[in-house]
Formats: sequence, C-alpha cells, structure tokens
Amino acid sequence: MMDEIASHLIDIVANSVTAHATYISIDIMMDTNKNVLTLHVKDNGIGMDDETEKKVVDPFYTTKKGKKVGLGVPLLKGTAETTGGTFRLSSEVGHGTEIIASFDLTHPDLPPLGNIRDTILILVVGNPDTDFRFRVKNNSKEFILDTKEIKEHLGGVPINHPDVITFLIKYIDENM
Ligand SMILES: Nc1ncnc2c1ncn2[C@@H]1O[C@H](COP(=O)(O)OP(=O)(O)OP(=O)(O)O)[C@@H](O)[C@H]1O
Ligand SMILES: [Mg+2]
Repeated sequence: MMDEIASHLIDIVANSVTAHATYISIDIMMDTNKNVLTLHVKDNGIGMDDETEKKVVDPFYTTKKGKKVGLGVPLLKGTAETTGGTFRLSSEVGHGTEIIASFDLTHPDLPPLGNIRDTILILVVGNPDTDFRFRVKNNSKEFILDTKEIKEHLGGVPINHPDVITFLIKYIDENM
C-alpha cells in the first residue's frame, strides 16, 4: 500500500489542500554522507489547535466525514520512526502546519523514495489553484520549482494545460 516515501508525501500534501492551504512548500533533502533523507512540508492552511495537534498522530482521529480512521499522518510517522528516523509536527490555528520527517537511508526496511518528478507533477497538476514551492536537494545539488513564478510567465494559461505539463516534465528532467 504505502510502499514509497513519495506516496506518504502525496498524502500529507492532500491534508494541506483539504486544510485550504493556498501555498505549500515542500523540501526533499538527501544527504548521502550523513545517510539522511528529510521531508519538510509547510502549509498556510487552517492549522490545528493544541488538542488536535496531539490527536493527529492517532489513527482513529480524522475530521473527514463518514470516515473512522485517518491514516495519512500516523503512517508517515510510523514509517519514519520504525526505520530509525524522526517525525515532528507543529501547527497553529489560522497560520498553518509544518511537518518534518527524517529517514535513515541505511535502514534495511526503508521504503524506496519513489519517483520525485512524477510526484511533483501529480501535486502541481492535480491542484492547479494551489501554489507550490519545491526544493529538491541532492547533496550539494539543488533544484527549485516555484509554481507562483511559473504561473506569472504563463499569462493565464492554466498550469495543467497539456503544453505546460510537457514543459514541466522537460524542465524537471533537465534541471533536477
Ligand atoms: N496540514 C493539516 N492542516 C490541518 N489539519 C490537518 C493537517 N493534516 C492533518 N490534519 C487533521 O488531522 C486529521 C488526520 O489526518 P490524517 O492524514 O492522518 O487522516 P485523514 O486525512 O483524516 O484521512 P486519510 O489521510 O486516511 O485519508 C485530518 O482529518 C485533519 O483534521
Ligand atoms: Mg490525510
């Protein structure tokens, strides 16, 4: 089910979108000297009060209607912590939510990272009204994709237009 870290990321970002975030920054940082992968997701959504913030790591907590379990956050926390990494969530009502998860790249049970290019595309194309800033750092190499900047150049053409998707694929493949 959750066999790639990228799927966790898609889930966590879905929470941000549900929380009415208009801006989501996502950092994916790989340090092969320290053997650490860090995911950092920050949104400007509705946030959570202190009580909710404590409950969110409980699989039986959800605010989705007609659902009994909410697994997005607990699964990410579980994957990070059972493979020797860390998980931290902080949130403030009316300001947003921030999640930092780290993973030990040497742990034998660490799921594969998955396809980062496709993950970026899914998020950007699937949420055309949300602004994203991706920062993908692979040791000293850094790639940044800021959809707000891209949208300014598009002059009204939607970011999920087929020609724009073709451009995005090429841009990511050539620069990331
Ligand atoms: N970024 C966020 N901003 C505000 N609230 C959040 C955020 N992430 C999670 N929550 C709250 O925590 C609850 C649990 O999140 P979680 O992802 O674990 O489960 P879910 O989204 O409810 O269901 P699932 O992910 O299994 O479809 C959400 O229903 C929501 O109330
Ligand atoms: Mg969720």
